[in-house]
Amino acid sequence: MAFSFRGRSINKVGVIGSGQIGPDIALHFVKVLHGFDASVVVVDIALDALEKGKSKLFKKIDKGGQTGAFKPDEVEGMKNHVLFTSDYNKLKGVDLVVEAATEDLPLKKRIFRQVEELVSKDTILTSNSSHLEPERIFDELKLKGRSLCTHYFFPAERNPAIEIIPGKDTNRETTEFMMRFYEKIGKIPIKVGSRYGYAVDPVFEGLLLACVQCVDAGLGDTKQIDYVASKALGLTVGPFTAHNLTGGNPITAHGLSEMHESLNAWFRVPDRLKQLLESKSDWVVPGRGEKIEVSSEQEKQISEELMGAYFAIVCDMLDAEIITTSDFDLLISVALDMKPPFSFMNSVGVKKAFELVENFANKYPPMPVSKKLKEQAASGNPWEILDVLFEKQGDVGIISIRRPKALNALNSKVFKELNTYCDVIRNDSGIKAAVITGFGNKAFVAGADIKEMAGLTDPTQGEHFARIGQIASAELEKLGKPVVAALNGFALGGGCELAMCCTARVAPKGMKFFAGQPEVNLGLIPGMGGTQRLPRLVGFARASEMIRTAKPISSTQALQFGLINEEVEGDVLERAIALAQDIAHGRLTPKPMEMGPVPNSPDELPDVDIGHLSRAIDALAVRAILEGGKMTLEDGLKNEARLFGQCWTTEDNRIGLKNFIEKGAKSKAEFVHR
Ligand code: CAA
Repeated sequence: MAFSFRGRSINKVGVIGSGQIGPDIALHFVKVLHGFDASVVVVDIALDALEKGKSKLFKKIDKGGQTGAFKPDEVEGMKNHVLFTSDYNKLKGVDLVVEAATEDLPLKKRIFRQVEELVSKDTILTSNSSHLEPERIFDELKLKGRSLCTHYFFPAERNPAIEIIPGKDTNRETTEFMMRFYEKIGKIPIKVGSRYGYAVDPVFEGLLLACVQCVDAGLGDTKQIDYVASKALGLTVGPFTAHNLTGGNPITAHGLSEMHESLNAWFRVPDRLKQLLESKSDWVVPGRGEKIEVSSEQEKQISEELMGAYFAIVCDMLDAEIITTSDFDLLISVALDMKPPFSFMNSVGVKKAFELVENFANKYPPMPVSKKLKEQAASGNPWEILDVLFEKQGDVGIISIRRPKALNALNSKVFKELNTYCDVIRNDSGIKAAVITGFGNKAFVAGADIKEMAGLTDPTQGEHFARIGQIASAELEKLGKPVVAALNGFALGGGCELAMCCTARVAPKGMKFFAGQPEVNLGLIPGMGGTQRLPRLVGFARASEMIRTAKPISSTQALQFGLINEEVEGDVLERAIALAQDIAHGRLTPKPMEMGPVPNSPDELPDVDIGHLSRAIDALAVRAILEGGKMTLEDGLKNEARLFGQCWTTEDNRIGLKNFIEKGAKSKAEFVHR
């Protein structure tokens, strides 16, 4: 079975360069593609680099085998699908090339001249450059439309962030394909405009410079600055330590000197970095667990200076319009695992952030003061950071929930943003139908946000939370235009409930763990319509079993039960768009949801074994299902929200939510049935 996606097959991937990052990139591809019998070829002219790269990659595979991350047949399968070679001819037949050679423009150009002669005209050519604009790397290609930059982050096989940088000649189809392809194989691709250093490296490298400036200004030594930087910016390790660990000093020096020319003259190679490189030494950094003494005044000064630098650098990129606030926050939090810049500014106050930038720019000219930051501070509003994205494709509006770190869980912010887009769709006469989907390849939506619900304290708050979710999701039902749910991954709890508000639902074929109402595991009942719409869609017996036992069902069962309309072999989003158009243009009419009381609704439910689950919560679930069957959908929802709130009168509610927060989803709560 080949890996086919959006009209392209990926049977063979070429990775050029077996140095620092090439083998890690190859490992990610072989991990996700070997099951489709797709192979990965790593090419390098240096035999010792090939040897080292292969040994590093195989060691990581073996380690995965030992820890249980990979099954024994996967270990073998992965090793059998990767080839390390010095023979460029082995690139013949590749569908995708990722060049990961040294950051050297003439070298990269030479490689692509050679590669273009070997591959077909449809092969996509990408460079894992960390700085160079695609227009410069690919300017000698005959077919430039299929080329772009793809910037991975350390460690490339595990860090999901990836910057996608199309050049002025890259065609839209290539960019769109690469964005969706990386999402499909588990990455978090973020599109960034073509500019030297893209979005992340001016932050990573600029913060090292800002730290050196703090040392030069006598605010502390490298250990103290590193310690305060990690604390102030929410980094796992400070910039000096990060540079030591990644061997990043030479490339940062090169990047800073280029940014001096291409971005602004604040960027420069500080003398301390030059000396460090000449003496081939590392930064002096705190040892593991070492206690670093810093006075509170010193800590304040260092923190404010670094925040000024951080905010100045990111806002300058906003002015350059290469990235949005929402994308930048997600990218930085995933790629560098540090405080996302715009949320960070919101938390300290945008006005305060502006003052910090002004102070920094006055102290270190010619750092520019961002126009957009100035305007935002003057507006008195926080930055807008969206967790729900919207785009139009022809006459279809596409809503996408993007909270990858919480598996797209629904919180109050998401509900608000969903409402906004429902209004957009309703009021745009050019939009005839809509599709709702989740970001990534794992979850459509993993439910209502459990961390937010754990902060609720009484039945009134519980009921209110449920009503907000019910009303936001019912907007889809009442839109007056068809909405198809493209269930790109599992749909649990509020996710399944959101999907049930849609006109139709499609899911990937063969998902074993697909949909369910797992609320009872948490000492809750479904609160976004699960007890009302699920019986109306799949019947009372099946619905009550799913709700009362929390057992998930497969996509095949979902189709048999009538929960989804189709299982899809290819891309669910593409299929959902086509289906939405068919419904909008009258070519198909899915069965509508029963809005009145359910004819012949039962007075009691079949027995089910609820095992360790709470009998107190089960009683509320049974009431919501049975009482709701005899009501209109509208009244049933209100009743469900009230009973959802009643969960907060039980001890088991506290036990279930606390168990998830403290021990995670896999741990079983010890309910007391009260
Ligand atoms: N809310 C908030 N965060 C969630 C979440 C949710 N519903 N589901 C998952 N997450 C978070 C996890 O806490 C975790 O965060 P950290 O990395 O910070 O710990 C992250 O997403 C990844 O989750 P896992 O590590 O658990 O990933 P996994 O692949 O091992 O398991 C899963 C995935 C099966 C979805 C599992 O996370 C799970 O069972 N989640 C809970 C699903 C659930 O119970 N949904 C119903 C919510 S209640 C509801 O929806 C009420 C309603 O009707 C209104």
